[in-house]
Amino acid sequence: MRAVIWKEPHKVAVEEVEDVSMTEPTDAILRLTTAGICGSDLHMYEGRTPVQPGEVFGHENLGVIEEVGSGVRTVEAGDRVVLPFNVSCGFCFNCVRGYTNACLVTNPTSHGGGFGYSGLGPHRGGQAEFLRVPYADFNCLKLPGTPGDDLEDDFLLLADVFPTGWHATEQAHVEAGEPVAIFGAGPVGLMAALSARLKGASEIYVVDAVRSRLDKAREIEGTVPIDLGDGDPVEQIIEHRRPFSQQVWNLRPGSGDKMPGVMSGIDAVGYEAWNDEHVGEEQHPSQVLDHLVELVNPTGHISLIGVYFPEDPGGVSEEAKRGRFGFDLGACWKKGIGVEMGQAPVKAYNQQLRDLIVAGRCKPSFFVSHHLPLEGAPEAYEKFDQRADGYLKILLRPQQAA
Ligand SMILES: NC(=O)c1ccc[n+]([C@@H]2O[C@H](COP(=O)([O-])OP(=O)(O)OC[C@H]3O[C@@H](n4cnc5c(N)ncnc54)[C@H](O)[C@@H]3O)[C@@H](O)[C@H]2O)c1
Ligand SMILES: [Zn+2]
Ligand SMILES: [Zn+2]
Repeated sequence: MRAVIWKEPHKVAVEEVEDVSMTEPTDAILRLTTAGICGSDLHMYEGRTPVQPGEVFGHENLGVIEEVGSGVRTVEAGDRVVLPFNVSCGFCFNCVRGYTNACLVTNPTSHGGGFGYSGLGPHRGGQAEFLRVPYADFNCLKLPGTPGDDLEDDFLLLADVFPTGWHATEQAHVEAGEPVAIFGAGPVGLMAALSARLKGASEIYVVDAVRSRLDKAREIEGTVPIDLGDGDPVEQIIEHRRPFSQQVWNLRPGSGDKMPGVMSGIDAVGYEAWNDEHVGEEQHPSQVLDHLVELVNPTGHISLIGVYFPEDPGGVSEEAKRGRFGFDLGACWKKGIGVEMGQAPVKAYNQQLRDLIVAGRCKPSFFVSHHLPLEGAPEAYEKFDQRADGYLKILLRPQQAA
């Protein structure tokens, strides 16, 4: 079968690889109809997380079940399903508590399994014609409709970025009637903005430097795009919300200007953040965290949904290479800000979000920019890695001829 494999930093190729097969009675085989390329794939693409030549990428997987093992009960050949990017067992200490991002069974060397990702266990990725699905009963989310229908792209986003964006709003305690700021207008930032809108946030600010991404953010009702190129994003947001905040805070005696910022802040950028002054350059990996500590009001919450790795061979300093990032802990403590971080447990949200999509309450695929056969992956990775204008979300159609 054909698959997207990693060759060397900044190079992937589409080649014939060994067919997948079931190794456990609880497995299934999925025939992919759509596989997404994710911002997280870029960490491996660039060689910033250890990856071996020949590894198959792909953790956003949607398709039709081809075959199931003798122990699978609730899924059968012909079912249309989407998989969480997490691979989880459903019965370990963490899975039963809902923390499928930290499954203790599916990764022999650590907690947390995932498809097509270095460090997340031996699970091949789905940017390929077929994929082995462990613990198929637990990991498959069944979908209505038929492959290639109007909801194909929306359903694909249930594998990662929509539940991940939703999780960011949970980590940041986004509440109806409260303001939120999101740094990064990539797929995760946009899905966090959509989730904040669905939850009824009063104001949604989305910060980035890429014009076409900010334009997409503007399409989400109630969202104000903030361009890094127009100056300090914290000042811009405080200035923008001043008329509103003064109106409401003046109703609360003694409050004055003590709460000029937002109640929830989301870092949807991670350790590869660009510097404000030199957009496109990474010299200050905790740039976004610094901004959020300044911007979030006392008693507010911050979500670090963007990735920070414990090891980063491409880090800008010895500290960054070891996953140590400085930030204003004192200010954060004084304000009593809660900070949450880590990988999203997709399964905690994906069926509810599926039902919102089916009910027509949201259409997350509004920002999908490209549909390509597998053979389009090498060029698409290159452009997406450069954050090239217009390359926002690339979906591969593995059954489509080149
Ligand atoms: N926690 C999880 O479970 C999870 C899941 C999926 C993705 N992620 C991570 O979320 C992050 C975002 O993913 P994505 O797919 O949207 O990636 P992306 O790279 O497409 O988006 C990041 C965006 O941040 C912008 N940016 C860079 N520096 C900035 C700065 N200083 N201020 C504001 N914006 C800045 C870039 O222009 C880009 O648009 C990545 O780190 C990814 O690995 C985490
Ligand atoms: Zn991802
Ligand atoms: Zn488990």
